[in-house]
Amino acid sequence: MDKSATHETLLVVDFGGQYTQLIARKARELKVYSKIVAWDSPNLESEWRQAKAAILSGGPKSVLDSDSPTISPDLLKSGTPVLGICYGQQLLARLLDGEVVKVEHREYGKQLLQPVPNAALLRESGQVWMSHGDAVATLPKGFQVAATTSTCAVAAMEAPEQKLFGVQFHPEVTHTEGGKEVLRKFLFDQAGFRGDWTSANFIEETSEEIRRRVGSKGRALCAVSGGVDSTVAAALIARAIGDRLVCVFVDHGLMRKNEAAQVVETFRTYVPAEFVAIEASGQFFKALAGVIDPEEKRKRIGGEFVRVFEQHASEIGDCDFLAQGTLYPDVIESGSKTAAKIKTHHNVGGLPDCMKMELIEPLRWLFKDEVRSAGRELGLPSEAIDREPFPGPGLAVRILGEVTPERVRTVQDADFIFREELFREGLNRGIWQSYAALLDVRSVGVMGDERTYLNPIVLRAVSSEDAMTAHASEIPFAVLERIASRIVNEVQGVNRVLYDLTSKPPATIEWE
Ligand code: XMP
Repeated sequence: MDKSATHETLLVVDFGGQYTQLIARKARELKVYSKIVAWDSPNLESEWRQAKAAILSGGPKSVLDSDSPTISPDLLKSGTPVLGICYGQQLLARLLDGEVVKVEHREYGKQLLQPVPNAALLRESGQVWMSHGDAVATLPKGFQVAATTSTCAVAAMEAPEQKLFGVQFHPEVTHTEGGKEVLRKFLFDQAGFRGDWTSANFIEETSEEIRRRVGSKGRALCAVSGGVDSTVAAALIARAIGDRLVCVFVDHGLMRKNEAAQVVETFRTYVPAEFVAIEASGQFFKALAGVIDPEEKRKRIGGEFVRVFEQHASEIGDCDFLAQGTLYPDVIESGSKTAAKIKTHHNVGGLPDCMKMELIEPLRWLFKDEVRSAGRELGLPSEAIDREPFPGPGLAVRILGEVTPERVRTVQDADFIFREELFREGLNRGIWQSYAALLDVRSVGVMGDERTYLNPIVLRAVSSEDAMTAHASEIPFAVLERIASRIVNEVQGVNRVLYDLTSKPPATIEWE
């Protein structure tokens, strides 16, 4: 039986708006399962039929353009409750024979919303976030104005008997006061959702979908790094197809101290899939010998991953699907064509071109906290799901200058001491990432009666919400002093310890 048909689903029809995923996320925060479907998806009609309600997203186009994205007006007459947001409201108006016109000045930013008394989705006036160049000029039949702003006569419209609603502003963004209330009223009061969607439902639903896609014979490959995303993706797929999933872990020798062993242990214990661990550190060190330039290091590591997969292709066997732990933030980042490239991001490396597989990305619409909660639900241990973000190229990113086995050991040992002390003090809570980096300058020191001429270690600990910005974490001086003393005494090749106080921007989180 098709499980998703029995599950209450909100369909978010995507017209290319920058906040579409946020709509889906806000709905899920209200415990309503939401699915995003592109306006031109061949599945739109069948998805629409199965959904309990639909939201039409914003979008960059104008409904007045001849080639603008649209949907069949019949869908709006099917009785499914619909909320149109921004472009979505204009599309509603246009498809139902209202009129949309270009506004003289594009409106962008906050506006004070004035709802009419007894508007179905709106109660109080408040600041709302607007971003539009067109506006509804004539309401479609059966609609009334639900709110205005000083510059927008139809800031919201409604036809409650037909369960059709439109808002010109964006209720899904945090700048809109009471935005969540608008969504709540639409979903619960108008569309009648129960609001009982949880990670457990997500897992059940997604496993079912994966099983359907992969079929009874297909095999899937998941390259795992030990990071939260690939681990949860693998555990979820393993739940769906068991040992027809093969997880491949390439140990490049650039993990934190003891971490490679821990990854192997986690997979063997908690992920009921086939597991191939490849110890390839020698090969990676060879590829990195003499390389100083950080981008070149990343390139070589990426290239080596491909080579390892080629070398082990027969052990891995043929696979029809490639599973990836892509998250929503990755989707946005890679989607922004105009963003400047600061550095090449790289997780478990590309795969050889000859490995042509269909992609499975079960976490594509989730945010990190949702992934962690799914991981917990799947029974993964805290070491696996509460891990800090860690760069795919590993410690190569945290070693300035040449990467050698000795220098990796130095940074691993210093990193271990730093984090051991932070955990002992309970300071890890509230820290987004903490690590030690090894620099390639040398300075003079004195140890015993001997002169030393060695590299310094930099300690970095930051608080952050999303890694886009970050601040140095406050660590008591006495704790820093103890850590510094332990590192110079216990770690080979280090005679100084520094604490990095720089925020991002202007610095980055990593040192490379
Ligand atoms: P920066 O140093 O740019 O890092 O402030 C932002 C976040 O990205 C992580 N990072 C990576 N993550 N593959 C990853 O999956 C990579 O190649 C990579 N490089 C940096 C970094 O740890 C921080 O969380």
